[in-house]
Amino acid sequence: MAPGQVDIRFDGQVVLVSGAGRGIGRAHARLLADRGAHVVVNDLDRDVATEVAQEIQDAGGQATAAAGDVVDDASAIIGNALDVGGRLDALVNNAGVAWDQPFTPSSAVAEVERVLRIHTLGTVALTAAAWDALAVTNGRIVNTTSGAVTGLRNSTAYAAAKGAILGFTRSLALEAADVGIRVNAIMPMARTRMYELAGGIAGSDEDHWMQQFFPAEAIAPTVVFLASDAVSFNGQVIETSGWTTAHVELAVTPYLAAGTPEEARESLSSPGGGLTVVAGLAEMLAAKMVVS
Ligand SMILES: NC(=O)c1ccc[n+]([C@@H]2O[C@H](COP(=O)([O-])OP(=O)(O)OC[C@H]3O[C@@H](n4cnc5c(N)ncnc54)[C@H](O)[C@@H]3O)[C@@H](O)[C@H]2O)c1
Repeated sequence: MAPGQVDIRFDGQVVLVSGAGRGIGRAHARLLADRGAHVVVNDLDRDVATEVAQEIQDAGGQATAAAGDVVDDASAIIGNALDVGGRLDALVNNAGVAWDQPFTPSSAVAEVERVLRIHTLGTVALTAAAWDALAVTNGRIVNTTSGAVTGLRNSTAYAAAKGAILGFTRSLALEAADVGIRVNAIMPMARTRMYELAGGIAGSDEDHWMQQFFPAEAIAPTVVFLASDAVSFNGQVIETSGWTTAHVELAVTPYLAAGTPEEARESLSSPGGGLTVVAGLAEMLAAKMVVS
């Protein structure tokens, strides 16, 4: 491809972005519209959804606002998208809320329930409502997990919800392939309202650095690629931030003996050797067969 050539386009396609009234979702919506998509802008907050749709139209793009909650109103939101042109080509599950609290036994169950509802059930509900329409267009789903799943202080409920999205994405991809849908997930990082709420960093040196190098717009190119019909892979987790992108892999150390608790202690204390990337449970079993 010649340098500067633009060949990823969405002309005639409809793409829904949840939580697109602010931050990362707004940036996704704007770039998708720049590439020819009719973008359906969902947000719980009707005012910001309408503002973003208007912003896109003012810039010459096509957009429709579809306010609503990603769990309770999932069917209605997908219905709004189908009303646009009778089709849905991609779903970007982005809506979410900030959560930054130490693990507190008295409220832990209620907090996980609340956060999981918005992030995880929201992703599942929109995916379920969109499934049949996406199967018709060989559609794409882009879910939003978080680097918090690798371990982040004061993030237990948030990481539990995002970890569930990671497992949902990798498992769903296997079934999505049967009906021609591709589903991948991103781990973004950007200086948005959520980052400020979670990190309490407003005005600090870190904040200035984040604003300069990690704008919300820096996530959108990767998501636009993942939402397009150019994406060839399925079930991948992609870290993207600061105008860079990378595959995130799960890997195992070499399998060593664990016939007794003491042997397990010994094996796990000094695993040694290289890492084997596992794409799924089947690959993990295959790696085990080598040593069995
Ligand atoms: N900002 C980061 O560094 C970061 C890091 C990892 C993951 N993420 C994830 O990226 C996504 C976007 O985050 P952001 O930083 O742009 O946050 P943001 O707060 O700027 O935007 C989130 C949007 O989602 C909307 N929303 C919340 N609950 C909703 C619901 N029930 N239904 C519909 N819309 C709802 C909000 O109104 C808001 O406009 C979230 O899923 C977040 O968890 C963000």
